[in-house]
Amino acid sequence: MTDEHTHAGRRALVTGAGQGVGRAIAHELARRGAEVVVNDLVDDRAGAVVAEIAAAGGRAVPSVFDVTDWSAVRQAAEAAGPVDILVNNAGNAGRVTSLTRGDFAPFVETAPADWESYLRVNLYGVMHTVRAFLPAMIDKSWGRVVTIISDAGRVGEPTMAAYSAAKAGAAGFSRAVAREVGRHGVTVNSVSLGTVGPEEPSDEYLKDPGLAQSISRYVIRRIGRPGEVAALVSFLSGPEAGWVTGQTYPINGGYSFSF
Ligand SMILES: NC(=O)c1ccc[n+]([C@@H]2O[C@H](COP(=O)([O-])OP(=O)(O)OC[C@H]3O[C@@H](n4cnc5c(N)ncnc54)[C@H](O)[C@@H]3O)[C@@H](O)[C@H]2O)c1
Repeated sequence: MTDEHTHAGRRALVTGAGQGVGRAIAHELARRGAEVVVNDLVDDRAGAVVAEIAAAGGRAVPSVFDVTDWSAVRQAAEAAGPVDILVNNAGNAGRVTSLTRGDFAPFVETAPADWESYLRVNLYGVMHTVRAFLPAMIDKSWGRVVTIISDAGRVGEPTMAAYSAAKAGAAGFSRAVAREVGRHGVTVNSVSLGTVGPEEPSDEYLKDPGLAQSISRYVIRRIGRPGEVAALVSFLSGPEAGWVTGQTYPINGGYSFSF
């Protein structure tokens, strides 16, 4: 075991790990010695990440289910068995494609049907997995739950009210659960992201005029990289973060500051 293998002997579930931030988190936890259960809605994506981790010398298994479906989550928990680390990463609008411009609208132009997908994945999805996987952590007197939220949920984001509400809800839920389970050695934290792009953005991605406008709101004038988020999640889910719970950690290039 090298010093890097801080997560050896642990099993981790990362939801929505078939691409983007979740994929980077799955890789980092595996690199640190955890066996990773790679969840996604899309079979091929989960399978590809499992193969990448195996090719890098790590251990991973796929687990394809929809976090918004309580009965599917319960079945997946039974099939996967206990995990020590749960990373709630599946989010956005809870579908196979990321958010697009058409997803953004002033709140007064939206209807309840438009809010549902955000609440289902970003709040209920988190509650489902925590409900299914937390009992085994309590039994073991050790566990780490890390939920990926957004600065939209901390400071509010115009045209993303339902998403902001759902992410803020997930952080509030995490604080309440943190109070319930700290005495069992289980920590529960949230990580709040600013805009995170690909690890190596293409020229086409960087040329998007909307991106330049977005970057101007960041103290550090670039978007984030999935690997940077993975490093923070890895710390919070590791052995050295046992006295950190109930917190929300921004990783946002200075988009917003907190005391
Ligand atoms: N990328 C950003 O700029 C950014 C900013 C703030 C917060 N976030 C949050 O970070 C997390 C990851 O974002 P990303 O941009 O890497 O996501 P992404 O959209 O690129 O990938 C998400 C993955 O999750 C899967 N997924 C979606 N719904 C699912 C469900 N119901 N059950 C299981 N899997 C599901 C998708 O198939 C996809 O592979 C999300 O929670 C998102 O809200 C992202």
